[in-house]
Amino acid sequence: MTIAIIGGTGLDQLDGLQVGEKIALDTPYGAPSAPVQQGTYNGKPVFFLARHGERHEWPPHRVNYRANMYALKQLGVEQVIAVNAVGGIHHDMGPAVISVPDQIIDYTWGRIHTYSDDEHSPLEHIDFTYPYAERTRELLVRAADAAGVIVLARGVYGCTQGPRLETAAEIRRMQRDGCDLVGMTAMPEAPLAREIGLDYASLCVVANWAAGCTDELITMEAIEATLKVGMDNIRKILQQVLVLG
Ligand code: HPA
Repeated sequence: MTIAIIGGTGLDQLDGLQVGEKIALDTPYGAPSAPVQQGTYNGKPVFFLARHGERHEWPPHRVNYRANMYALKQLGVEQVIAVNAVGGIHHDMGPAVISVPDQIIDYTWGRIHTYSDDEHSPLEHIDFTYPYAERTRELLVRAADAAGVIVLARGVYGCTQGPRLETAAEIRRMQRDGCDLVGMTAMPEAPLAREIGLDYASLCVVANWAAGCTDELITMEAIEATLKVGMDNIRKILQQVLVLG
């Protein structure tokens, strides 16, 4: 299976990637967030795409998700591993915990979220009962096991619009809805992958307690420090993904 990794906040580049060609692609939907980096990781070929751009210039609501997924498809990618920084809502999902979520609730608005968008594109109502590809989720869980990194093999990801963080009342509502995690990028990335025929699953790294879940103020400094720890574990898992995948 040809694998691509989409790096989010805290993973704008993949250390340890034996760098090959940087592929600047254009798509019918415009340019992807960044050139796609082709390379090998742990001896295995892999593609890497920085979701927020090489200089972290694209906020979550401005990412060209359609171009990103289309570009990966053009390159022959079959399986996409998304890495997402999130806030923790469930008491088990504290800072630095890694989850392989199994469900999503969408709170975003105004994002271009489908390829079925004009008279030239066939209208498709994809099945999205299970938004993540089960076999890719299983691969991630097995890879984490092989890497000796503990992950929670479930989680409901609530996707908000951002870029601001949520209010405490918004998080309480999301908790009542059944959300365990809150992030800003799973939607519309996951359904676009499904529409275009890419297997897609995510490694979510908890960067902070979600708003109101702790008395402490959420600062970018604290988020960055936690992500550094989390991303070290993510790298270990990704190496095993490429051994097993
Ligand atoms: N909310 C939304 N997205 C996030 C958060 C958060 O608290 N932390 C990291 N990404």
